[in-house]
Amino acid sequence: MTDLLGDMKRTHFCSELRDTDIGKNVVLMGWVQHRRDHGGVVFVDLRDREGITQVVFNPLVSRTVHEKAQEIRSEYVIGIQGKVTARPADMINPNMATGAIEILVEELAIFSMAKTPIFLIEDRVEASENIRLQYRYLDLRRPQLKRNILARHQATMAIRNYLDHNGFIDIETPFLTRSTPEGARDYLVPSRVNQGQFYALPQSPQLFKQLLMISGFDRYYQIVKCFRDEDLRADRQPEFTQIDMELSFVNEDRIMEIAEGLICAIFKKVLGTDLSVPFPRLTYAAAMDRFGLDRPDLRFGLELVNVSDIVADTGFKVFANVVKSGGLVKAINAKGCAAFTRKQIDELTEFAAVYRAKGLAWIKIKEDQWQSPIAKFFTDDEKQTLAQRLDLAPGDIVFFVADQPHITNEALGQLRNELARRLKLIPEDQFSFTWVTDFPLLEYDETEKRYQALHHPFTAPSEADIAKLDTDPLQVNSRAYDLVLNGIEIGGGSIRIHDTALQEKVLACLGIQQEEAREKFGFLLEALAAGAPPHGGIAFGLDRLIMLLCKEDSIRNVIAFPKTQKATCLLTEAPSSTSPAQLQELGIRISKIGE
Ligand code: AMO
Ligand code: AMP
Repeated sequence: MTDLLGDMKRTHFCSELRDTDIGKNVVLMGWVQHRRDHGGVVFVDLRDREGITQVVFNPLVSRTVHEKAQEIRSEYVIGIQGKVTARPADMINPNMATGAIEILVEELAIFSMAKTPIFLIEDRVEASENIRLQYRYLDLRRPQLKRNILARHQATMAIRNYLDHNGFIDIETPFLTRSTPEGARDYLVPSRVNQGQFYALPQSPQLFKQLLMISGFDRYYQIVKCFRDEDLRADRQPEFTQIDMELSFVNEDRIMEIAEGLICAIFKKVLGTDLSVPFPRLTYAAAMDRFGLDRPDLRFGLELVNVSDIVADTGFKVFANVVKSGGLVKAINAKGCAAFTRKQIDELTEFAAVYRAKGLAWIKIKEDQWQSPIAKFFTDDEKQTLAQRLDLAPGDIVFFVADQPHITNEALGQLRNELARRLKLIPEDQFSFTWVTDFPLLEYDETEKRYQALHHPFTAPSEADIAKLDTDPLQVNSRAYDLVLNGIEIGGGSIRIHDTALQEKVLACLGIQQEEAREKFGFLLEALAAGAPPHGGIAFGLDRLIMLLCKEDSIRNVIAFPKTQKATCLLTEAPSSTSPAQLQELGIRISKIGE
């Protein structure tokens, strides 16, 4: 018998054969999706990474091969050699790329038997996600995950090509390093040779890429793992991948243009789609005002409307008091939804409460009256102005949140997204990009009672605002920008500070005094004094981008070996405890919390 692995070699992937191949001799390798015995003829759907082809074992072609085919079960690994033939007309499957042909098998090799898989390898999988993560190698055999991982590969190829063409150099940066402040907790690695000391895994290569600009590399990129110990969600993993870039001698516009080119190249390669550029831009202030969030989903309307001025002196004291104490009252008009039931309104109120809204006031606009627990408090004048500002018409329901600005915006911004989901207002096939620009440089952290960098401490303040660093730090805008796709932040970056004195000043504003600054970032401050070019950059979340490209709702579905919401790997059972000897070597003693 011929050696299918050596002499013959695979000639095609299972997705490739068409009726134009009829008559060809081919060799295919793969896994058995199904085996059916039809009156002496055995049909097998053979699956490899690209797709499925039907192969047929007919005793009239080869009695021995047909006999051997009786042994085959699901997920066995086999190789076949045979002839491409047309399927009988009534057997053509128009839903299958290879549905017009089948292979009449002349030789069969069974490479591996397989236990019955714990779940069926198909897209309508019923097993829980935990089971699928535990048996990830089976899950990854499913076409959906295969397609996602292949799309990811296509994307990284497009990224490398595009960036290489544009003069970017791929440079690796260390994982065993010092803390990089991106706002999350660090993952620490104990040092054996320096007992009691720890490396931090990088939250991003931020400082290294700036140092590379100071070293004169001019344009850097890396497709790189970043590590952040933060609360996990559908679009957050403890280790995730950035497309990280940094450029010298550029301004914001140039960086955005190059980043737009990159996104276009990815979409072209993976989906064949031509995106229209430049992407629209919104200032942070406009995004917050109209959408309540700094990552607005622009695929639908339902914009927030500020009514604080109208209700400043109203009889509904909750609203009036909020305005008096510097808060915001905003509203959303859900047009045509006055039929919402009490239960639906209660659900939405609970939803808003998750984002700390203390209530969700509502008014249903009927033909002849306003139906609402709070309508009685409004004067006719107030009603008329509200009706105009909110474009109220019979059949509408309008929702209000009154609170401190950040709560009003967050709660109503999230409610806007929730309403759009419930009302099916979101066109699923649309890709809606927007840049968000002119972020404030700092925000005030109420719990820590100090300023925090909204992006990171190396982001340059707007030239025009530098003087305000001393007088009114919260009014200083930064030169940061985010790219938002369908309401998800897919990238963010900024022009950096390239002057030691200004960097020290910003660190001082953040409550990091000179001594601490020297201790934590001394190497950067020194480097800035060694001749730093003006520079800036951006990093995209590759997992999020691929998730959106593949129309998935979790980044776990585009990562080969992801972690659970509790940051565990169910396949390898990491994290795990370790031996006393290993701990001793590291000079570590475990004292369990609470003991
Ligand atoms: P930033 O912190 O905004 O910027 O991160 C850049 C992008 O990375 C993605 N991202 C994540 N994806 C999955 N899981 C996570 N836990 C996670 N955290 C962030 C987001 C985000 O937009 N050094 C700067 C970039 C720069 O200034 O050049 C940085 O890391 O899509
Ligand atoms: P109350 O007078 O407390 O019963 O509230 C009347 C209505 O106002 C209820 O529908 C509450 O959900 C709503 N409400 C109370 N506080 C707020 C608030 N801070 N913002 C928006 N609506 C509120």
